[in-house]
Amino acid sequence: MNQSAARQNISPKESAEGDPILQASNVYISYSGKPAVVGVTLPIYKNRITSIIGPSGCGKSTLLRSFNRMNDFIHGVSMEGKILYLGVDLYAADVDPVAVRRNIGMVFQKPNPFPKSIFQNIAWGPAINGYKKDDMNRLVEDSLKKAALWDEIKDGRLTDSALALSGGQQQRLCIARALAMEPQLILMDEPCSSLDPVSTSRIEDLLFELKKRYTIVIVTHNMQQAARVSDYTAFLENGKLIEFGETSQVFTRPVNKRTEEYVTGRFG
Ligand SMILES: Nc1ncnc2c1ncn2[C@@H]1O[C@H](COP(=O)(O)OP(=O)(O)OP(=O)(O)O)[C@@H](O)[C@H]1O
Ligand SMILES: [Mg+2]
Repeated sequence: MNQSAARQNISPKESAEGDPILQASNVYISYSGKPAVVGVTLPIYKNRITSIIGPSGCGKSTLLRSFNRMNDFIHGVSMEGKILYLGVDLYAADVDPVAVRRNIGMVFQKPNPFPKSIFQNIAWGPAINGYKKDDMNRLVEDSLKKAALWDEIKDGRLTDSALALSGGQQQRLCIARALAMEPQLILMDEPCSSLDPVSTSRIEDLLFELKKRYTIVIVTHNMQQAARVSDYTAFLENGKLIEFGETSQVFTRPVNKRTEEYVTGRFG
């Protein structure tokens, strides 16, 4: 493969369901010399949901953003360690961060649709990546179906402004927008924190559906949500990974005393 092809495509290897799709090893991240993530080693398993929990400021978002090189945008950030995504070192010199973000999607805390139509919100990314116009209608429809929004907008709302949707619908649109890029791994940073309980439970149902085809990492402050939706849980405190394991174990038989105190609501 020539250099430009290598930059277009990060050529990940295949992995089987349940194998690690991403492996963070000894990751240190600091902002202007101030540590935010301290020596984190963590696997993310394919077709599973992993939740990252911990008190405010413990480094959850920073760690999550390192998984698709979103921290590159932040001035003064420095990183050490290795993040392998399907065998590809995401921080290797010949890896294009744009290709990384195309492969690894992100959904943010506040829904952030573009001030454009619902259709354009989904079609924009694939279009600039050269997706064929003829197939676009199908891609938009499929993405909206996967994000469980299609039924609410199929009757003439595709060309309406995305900003006319409710908050919960906007968040599902943002998930549809991420899915349209056909990522394997989707990172979600408190995707339900601005939503009402009904919208939250719709997104949680959606996560169960999505994990058949995708791998999801979700940062959440909601312990019930982590316990309900995730297969694995990582507990961070002061930038350190205090505990990682199957969610049932972390919540019912935590090994570390701090984990127990946190999941039972005694601090944080
Ligand atoms: N852009 C930034 N510039 C400088 N420091 C930052 C930046 N973003 C985060 N930090 C600092 O890094 C540490 C970890 O922040 P981070 O946002 O990762 O925490 P968090 O666990 O996601 O918190 P929360 O639950 O409140 O979202 C904090 O001390 C924070 O102040
Ligand atoms: Mg955060």
